[in-house]
Amino acid sequence: MIQIKHRDDWHEKWLNAIKSNKTIGFVPTMGALHEGHLELIRASKLTCDITVVSIFVNPTQFNNSEDFGNYPKTLNEDLEKLKQEKVDYVYTPSNDDIYTELPILSFSFGRLESTLEGAFRPGHFNGVGIVVSKLFNIIRPSKSFFGQKDLQQVAIIRRLVTDLSFDIELIVVPTKRETDGLAMSSRNLRLSPIERESAPLLFKYLTKAKSELLAGKSWFQVQQEIVEDFKEDSLIDLEYFELIHPETFTPYQEFDSNEKSSICLAAYLGKIRLIDNLPIIS
Ligand code: PAF
Repeated sequence: MIQIKHRDDWHEKWLNAIKSNKTIGFVPTMGALHEGHLELIRASKLTCDITVVSIFVNPTQFNNSEDFGNYPKTLNEDLEKLKQEKVDYVYTPSNDDIYTELPILSFSFGRLESTLEGAFRPGHFNGVGIVVSKLFNIIRPSKSFFGQKDLQQVAIIRRLVTDLSFDIELIVVPTKRETDGLAMSSRNLRLSPIERESAPLLFKYLTKAKSELLAGKSWFQVQQEIVEDFKEDSLIDLEYFELIHPETFTPYQEFDSNEKSSICLAAYLGKIRLIDNLPIIS
């Protein structure tokens, strides 16, 4: 595995890959790699000739500086995991390599970011849009791989690719879960042991809501019931629990089995904010 620290060093490797007709798969990450990331890498290795992973904790997508400061940084362990997966290149830029200057350009994703993560984390998707555009322009991959856990991010990046005509195929990989159902996330590392014990409730209530909806209960009833369920665990502070269209992120008032839908949630366990989602109709 070759580590690239400066974007100029990638240019020649990219050129060689293109000259020899090799496809480049790209997995952007913020490090603290877990099995969920490794699944994205494996998906890239299965379908692309060359796999590039980036590790960059992007400051512009954190709307809370404490969250940025506390984001887990495990570079040595990450590099070891990437070697084991036989990744070809890892790009580990410094802040200056990405942000020679702080961007004055900003993205607005309109209605796509007026709900859920967009509403609760103002500016977050602008930061994601900026850094993903920069990374796409630097790496110039054929395909890029994202996890379904960040469903709204996937919808945002899909629009970014369409609106800016990036010639990149987006591949969405299903959420990887712990055996107790907790969606894998770098933030799980920061849960205390008792918070970790409560954390599987997130998936448990998503699953409960799905089976009740499919059994014919109204969304209004299901949502109210689940909000009450969450109140019974004093460690979990639910932020939202919504039924949405997975591409437009418009919240539904009622469930319609003829329309695509997913349930999305965000909740705090102590200071740690986790998100998860479950497709209902795909
Ligand atoms: O999903 C993430 O880890 C980040 O939002 C991404 C796509 C790497 C951009 O910083």
